[in-house]
Amino acid sequence: MMIKLTLDNIRTLNMTADILFKNQAKMQTKILKINPKKPQISKIKQAAKIIKSGNLVAFPTETVYGLGANALDSKSVKKIFIAKGRPSDNPLIIHISDIADLEILVDYIPNTAHELIDKFWPGPLTLVLKKSKLVPKITTGGINTVAIRMPENKIAQALIRESGVPIAAPSANISGRPSPTTSEHVSNDLDGKISMILDGGKTNIGIESTVIDLSRKTPLLLRPGGVTLEQLQYIIGKITIHPILQERKTKLISRSPGMKYRHYSPNAKIILIDGPNDKVQDKILRLLSQFKKQGKKVGIMTTVNTRYKSDMTVFLGNNLDVMAANLFKTFREFDAKKIDVILVQGISRKGLGLGIMNRVEKAAYKKIKI
Ligand code: TXA
Ligand code: MG
Repeated sequence: MMIKLTLDNIRTLNMTADILFKNQAKMQTKILKINPKKPQISKIKQAAKIIKSGNLVAFPTETVYGLGANALDSKSVKKIFIAKGRPSDNPLIIHISDIADLEILVDYIPNTAHELIDKFWPGPLTLVLKKSKLVPKITTGGINTVAIRMPENKIAQALIRESGVPIAAPSANISGRPSPTTSEHVSNDLDGKISMILDGGKTNIGIESTVIDLSRKTPLLLRPGGVTLEQLQYIIGKITIHPILQERKTKLISRSPGMKYRHYSPNAKIILIDGPNDKVQDKILRLLSQFKKQGKKVGIMTTVNTRYKSDMTVFLGNNLDVMAANLFKTFREFDAKKIDVILVQGISRKGLGLGIMNRVEKAAYKKIKI
C-alpha cells in the first residue's frame, strides 16, 4: 500500500516519532549529596517522595549501594528488575528500619532468628524466612520465603522510616556487574534509568550482607558476607554451608536462585589462582608472560608485594576489612584501564576471607588450584 504524503499524514508520522522518542528518552537521574553521619531530612523527604510515588532511588547501605522501591507494590518492584536487567526469578532483599515490620512480612520467627537479630541487627545480615501474604510474589521471585535485613547506615534507615514502607533493594548495579560501593559506580550503570541517587560517599564494608536461610530445620548459609560464618556459628551453633559455596559446582540445583547466575564480573576475564604463595607466584609469572605474548593487557591482584611487570598490579594488602572494602572498586578500575585478563591470587577462606573469595569465584572465568 502506498501512503500519500498529505499534510495530515506527515503530522501523524511526526507525532508517532515524538511518542517513540519520548518512550525511549532517558529519564533525568537526580544525584543528591547527603551527609552520611547526619542525613539532612529535607533530602530524605525528596527521596521518600519518589519511593512513595512508585519510583526508584539508589541509596547507600553499610555494605554496597542498593536500588530501592516500595517492596509491597508489584509495579514499583517490577521497575527494579527492568532497570537492572535482572532475571525475574532472582528474589530481592527487603530492608526494614523497625523490628515490628519483620512481624508483618513473615509467617513465623524461629528462635535462631531472634538470637541473630539481637546480635547483628542493624547490620550486614539477611535472614530468609517463610513469607507472609503481604509480600508480593514478584519481590521474592515467585518463591514462598522472603529475605529481610535491617541496615545500619543512617541514610538507609532514615529513607525507610520516611517512606513508611519496607524497601526492596538489590545492589544498585546492572545485573552481572560488580556491586557499587560509590555513587559514581551507581551512576555509571544506572544513569538515566532511575529517578534519584542519594550520594552518601563510599560504603564501609564493600561486599554484600551475609544471607542465611532460617526457614528450614538446620540454618543454611546461602551467601557469606559482612557477618562471618564463625560469628554466626558462635551464636546459633550448627549451620549447613551450601555446597555451591564449598566448591564451584555450576550444575547443582541452587536453593538461592541468585546462585546460578554469573555475578560481580568486570569486563576482563578473571583467572583465580589458589595454592601456596611461592607456587602461585610462579604460576602468575608464567601466565603473565603467556598473555603478554598474545598481546593482552594483563592485570594482577596480589596479597604478596611482588613487582610483577603487568599493565596494572593491585596490592590487596593483608587486612581483610580493607580488601573487602576495595574489591569491587578495584574490579571497576581494571575495566577503566581496559585490562583483558586479571590474575587473582587466592586468599584463605577464614573470616571475611570466605565472602571475599566467594565474590572472586563467582566473577571468575577460570579457577586454577595448585
Ligand atoms: O548487602 C546487601 O545485601 C545488598 C544491600 C543493598 O542491602 N543487597 C544485595 O541484594 O546484595 P542482591 O539482590 O544483590 O542480592 C540478594 C541475594 C541474591 O543472591 C538472592 O538470590 C538472595 O539474596 N535471596 C533473596 N531472597 C531470597 C530467598 N527468599 N531465598 C533465597 N535467597 C534469596
Ligand atoms: Mg547483587
